[in-house]
Amino acid sequence: MACKSILVVDDDFQIREIFSQMLEILGHQYQYAADGLEAYHVLKNKEFDLVLCDIRMPEMDGLELIKEIEKINPDVPFIMVTGFSDEYTYDLVMKSGARDFIMKPFTIEELENKLNRIFKELCVSEENKSLLEKQIQLNKRLSALLTIAGELSSELDFERLFPLIVSRVTVAMDAERTSLYIIDGESGEIWTKVAQQVEEIRVPLGSGISGRVAESGKTINVTDAWELDYFDRKFDVKNNFRTRSVLCMPITNRSGESIAVIQVINRIDGGHFDDDDENLLKALSGQIAVALENSFLMEELQSSFEGFIRTLSAAVDARHRFTAGHSQRVTEYSRIIAEELGLDAGQLETIKYAALLHDIGKIGIRDAVLMKNGPFTPEEREEMNKHPAKTLSILKKFHFPKRLEQVPLVATYHHEKIDGSGYFEGLAGSEIPFGSRILAVADVFDALTSRRDYPKYTKDAILGHNPMPLAKAVTIMKEGAGSHFDQEVINAFLSCLPKILTLYRGAHFPLEYVDEMIASLQAG
Ligand SMILES: [Fe+2]
Ligand SMILES: [Fe+2]
Repeated sequence: MACKSILVVDDDFQIREIFSQMLEILGHQYQYAADGLEAYHVLKNKEFDLVLCDIRMPEMDGLELIKEIEKINPDVPFIMVTGFSDEYTYDLVMKSGARDFIMKPFTIEELENKLNRIFKELCVSEENKSLLEKQIQLNKRLSALLTIAGELSSELDFERLFPLIVSRVTVAMDAERTSLYIIDGESGEIWTKVAQQVEEIRVPLGSGISGRVAESGKTINVTDAWELDYFDRKFDVKNNFRTRSVLCMPITNRSGESIAVIQVINRIDGGHFDDDDENLLKALSGQIAVALENSFLMEELQSSFEGFIRTLSAAVDARHRFTAGHSQRVTEYSRIIAEELGLDAGQLETIKYAALLHDIGKIGIRDAVLMKNGPFTPEEREEMNKHPAKTLSILKKFHFPKRLEQVPLVATYHHEKIDGSGYFEGLAGSEIPFGSRILAVADVFDALTSRRDYPKYTKDAILGHNPMPLAKAVTIMKEGAGSHFDQEVINAFLSCLPKILTLYRGAHFPLEYVDEMIASLQAG
């Protein structure tokens, strides 16, 4: 039995002497207290493995002492020492919370047996306690894992998924920091983002800890990163940070390819990442892999959907040389106006697709009408004015995802006017979807400021093929507020006009056309 520290509490000097001789032989350290009160003060300031305590003592007896000590350190085990073998004393000792008692007089063997048994029991209970703690820790981690799995699987937007992974892993792993790197096989690099709107950080495969893990597909777990000759300390030095323990693991997809690397830095308790940590991160990596793959898939789907819509929209515009790029510009103008109005991301997305597709109904307009170089006859005008209805019938056949279900209507009503005099349904005011009111402004502004295939006439002048002078176009837009256009949308349009003009300055808008206008807007 290893040396233990024992406090002997007895008012009888001779008993204390006997204890001291025996404990010395048994190889334990000991200290005395002459009564309960003295023992209480000693125990308040010092830890002992065990207390050998007489029951009857002046000042504070053994039973009172155990009661008081219970309040400050309930774990310290007591063996009560008594000269009375009656049932009453036995009962008192057992109820006091003492682990055992020893009858005076006793032999060294008796004392040794009692001590050995108790220390063995304590040892087992200590082991049980640490097993229990481990179990609790495991349960905590398991429930964290399940929560994270649920959260990650429901997030398909990569821009939101990325920081979500980083923050959840940091907490679950009890780490100070986490980095997630995406492997870019084409460029032979891995990249990460510290924050949104911040440029990506790129590292070549094979470089540093994460680069090595990405290249080899093997986990790296180190106690102090600074001891590795390939660890780059520049980041630490620049950010006044000290990387110590690092656990870095590849994230592999279902085909076994590494798609990312997850790196947790500095266990918050100052220790290193152990086998349990590795197992937890491995389990988390499985969830991260699924979530990342789903979000990549979603991005791919989204970009092919957008690509398809943009191609379709450009194809419609390209039927006529002067309308090429029209839907693209209407989309950009609408976006700028909608942002100015503070619309949310979902509304912006609806407006984007509606703007791209608003004139798709022109597919159904005959070339002879669509490409006519001259003013329309009333019949031709009637046919041309049917294009919003055709837009609706085409878009109704599209299968838009739920979040974009308003696109067909927003696109269709771009020729409605706020006073109800527009086409094709003659909707008025709030009957017109708000998105369509934005499209109407963007659409007319682009028509006025683009080249025409036949001269435009006004009461006082022939304007020719060239775009209408900007100042005149802006006046028309302003004058249309409240009759043709929504006043709120026109106000937003006027405030972001410099932004709209700057976007196509030197491209769709000649330099001088824009600069003159911006200067006059700035002048007041
Ligand atoms: Fe149109
Ligand atoms: Fe249009």
